[in-house]
Amino acid sequence: MPPRWRTEPRFGPDGPAPDPAGSHHDRRIRSFQPRRSRVTTSQEDALRRLWGTWGLDIDGREVLDLGAMFGGRPVVLEIGFGMGEATAQMAADDPDTGILAADVHTPGQGNLLGLAERNGLDNIRVANGDAIILLREMLPPASLAGLRVYFPDPWPKKRHHKRRLIQPEFLTLAATRLAPGAILHCATDWEPYAEQMLEVLTAHPDFENTQPDGGYAPRPAFRPLTRFEGQGLDKGHVVHDLLFRRREN
Ligand SMILES: C[S@@+](CC[C@H](N)C(=O)[O-])C[C@H]1O[C@@H](n2cnc3c(N)ncnc32)[C@H](O)[C@@H]1O
Repeated sequence: MPPRWRTEPRFGPDGPAPDPAGSHHDRRIRSFQPRRSRVTTSQEDALRRLWGTWGLDIDGREVLDLGAMFGGRPVVLEIGFGMGEATAQMAADDPDTGILAADVHTPGQGNLLGLAERNGLDNIRVANGDAIILLREMLPPASLAGLRVYFPDPWPKKRHHKRRLIQPEFLTLAATRLAPGAILHCATDWEPYAEQMLEVLTAHPDFENTQPDGGYAPRPAFRPLTRFEGQGLDKGHVVHDLLFRRREN
């Protein structure tokens, strides 16, 4: 019997499903743009060979047993890993922590699976779909030791601000899935979004700032440079990290 979280490779005639929960939960405001992206041969190869073991579809149909998936390790959820280089680096640096890495970006999923295989990382699982559904429907209360949201899509146009991930409603949901004392770590190079993050996190009753001055945190040494961060730095953007703790209440 395969473990409960295993799913068959999702390659249909049109390629992988970009958002498996779509038809069941279609009244969502999505924080991502559903799109088809080119998948390289090696990414496709990794998806075909490794998905059944290390991948899972976010279809909202079952509650995951994280203890069984990660061999009892504490588990951190990363939302939006992009191409996954920073995720793989963090998994290698901290093999005693499990990383549940969620994104809708198929090339990145293949890339991260390939990186995990090449580097012998058994503490990563790649989740395909909307992390909101993962949090809401598939993760038990207080099951996460941490949450990482690095360089989420900034949605700069005003009419798109509702698509930004870091909002009060999201924080309320995330707080229920984080264990007391767990750290929510956000980073962004988009100044207005950094200000919004600081404002909504500071105002939220379930979180407290780890910084005594109530401001941004120095970039922690454990967070590698991400691909989007590099692009932002090239444009002269300033990067802000935010480290907030789930209150014990
Ligand atoms: C701007 S990219 C940053 C990627 C990476 N963290 C980096 O810094 O290079 C944001 C990523 O978040 C993903 N994303 C946005 N909303 C998401 C959601 N609700 N669930 C899963 N992934 C999401 C997007 O697909 C995209 O790959």
